[in-house]
Amino acid sequence: IPVEPFDYVVFGGNGDLAERKLLPALYHRDHDGQIPAEARIIGASRSEISDDEYRAFAREALRQHVGTADLEDASIERFLSRLHYRQIDAKADGGWDSLLALLDEADPSRIRAFYLAVGPALFADIATRIAEKGLATPESRLVIEKPVGRDLESARALNATIGEHFSEEQVFRIDHYLGKETVQNLMALRFANALYEPVWNSAHIDHVQITVAESVGLEGRAGYYDKAGALRDMVQNHIVQLMCLVALEPPSSLDSDALRDEKLKVLRALRPIDQSNVESRTVRGQYKQGASGGAAVRSYLEDLGDGASDTETFVAIKAEIGNWRWAGVPFYLRTGKRLSERMSEIVVTFRPIPHNIFAGSAGNVIQNQLVMRLQPDEGVKQWLMIKDPGPGGMRLRHVPLDMSFAASFGVRNPDAYERLLMDVIRGNQTLFMRRDEVEAAWEWVDPILRGWDEKGMKPQGYTAGTWGPSSGVALIERDGRTWHEPD
Ligand code: BG6
Repeated sequence: IPVEPFDYVVFGGNGDLAERKLLPALYHRDHDGQIPAEARIIGASRSEISDDEYRAFAREALRQHVGTADLEDASIERFLSRLHYRQIDAKADGGWDSLLALLDEADPSRIRAFYLAVGPALFADIATRIAEKGLATPESRLVIEKPVGRDLESARALNATIGEHFSEEQVFRIDHYLGKETVQNLMALRFANALYEPVWNSAHIDHVQITVAESVGLEGRAGYYDKAGALRDMVQNHIVQLMCLVALEPPSSLDSDALRDEKLKVLRALRPIDQSNVESRTVRGQYKQGASGGAAVRSYLEDLGDGASDTETFVAIKAEIGNWRWAGVPFYLRTGKRLSERMSEIVVTFRPIPHNIFAGSAGNVIQNQLVMRLQPDEGVKQWLMIKDPGPGGMRLRHVPLDMSFAASFGVRNPDAYERLLMDVIRGNQTLFMRRDEVEAAWEWVDPILRGWDEKGMKPQGYTAGTWGPSSGVALIERDGRTWHEPD
């Protein structure tokens, strides 16, 4: 079903995110017939380029980042004809009148979405100018990428500045992990089945693991990444959001505030990690030289081109949620760059059976696990014990009930941004972070950052292409558990 007509203004329109994610996502939605004829996409940045040059940039972005099966000439030409470009200066007056004039060519009640695909340092400036230059209408929405701030104080300041110009209903803070199919499926599994919810608590669940492993290194983002590090880049947002969706109480509806209220309760129930326990609860790592995809790769410091940095490229945390449902159930979290492989998953391990009636080696009963794989191959596996088929007596086997999405449904898995970009137009905030949520996540993360500082906890080196420093393994193994081995 097509959405209402809109103008999407993408600041940073010729940047990396627009090229790799936003333009391809909008193309897919257009190709699938969801974008109405009048809709326009307007790239804006400080580069001096014409509409035609911008279309050429977009054509190349589609060629690189859209699968050939979906690249059809007629769709490409239709999509490119929607594109416009305006040069603007985020920090001064240049170009804003021209952007306004272009927007005003359309019906003023048309939805306007302003997507800030720019460095976080420009969020406040651009949001302020959009308002002061008269671009914002009641039907406008502002979309900002993470990171929202670099600590609680700066997040509050940014939220306050944005709040001066836009109401909370107009602000869409993107966490693209919430748009991933498996993450959506977690909600379906939990709340569209009678099976899981009764056992979804500390009486039946032993522990939860969340791994977001990447094989890539810095990818030319040194300037941003070295100031952020893995805790700010991945944990404060993506991983904490995943943890919230695993842990939240059933919301009364999928209404955006109903869901976000429940996530907020989880965030507020996170047990603090600070200088008193940061050494036993967290591990920091930084990659050294090693190998990735069969080729030798440089260390983080070499990638940085700078001799010294204490930025972590790996972090592992043993988190706990202090409420009735989860007391005593550890949530082991880990993420890192230049790890063995690109692999993200949520693993819920159930408690051991209370009494084993199967004797000897035949009776080796492995704890049930629910494995929700976010990438690379999205799907869900429920691991169970069954009897090995055949007449050879009772021998047990550990097997998965396998729901591999691509194979089961034979459809292309849409990218997270496709869903989220259209939710902005629909005005649906369910999968976006609310102001208080972002701040509550920082309230948990800030004491970890301070704890590292106070305890002088520097990152430990790990060889690129491995699973991180050995202390990351020790963090879980000293509790008698192991990281789930991807199969
Ligand atoms: C981004 C981080 O938010 O997520 C990047 O800034 C990271 O450092 C990326 O590489 C991972 O996203 P995905 O969808 O490829 O897992």
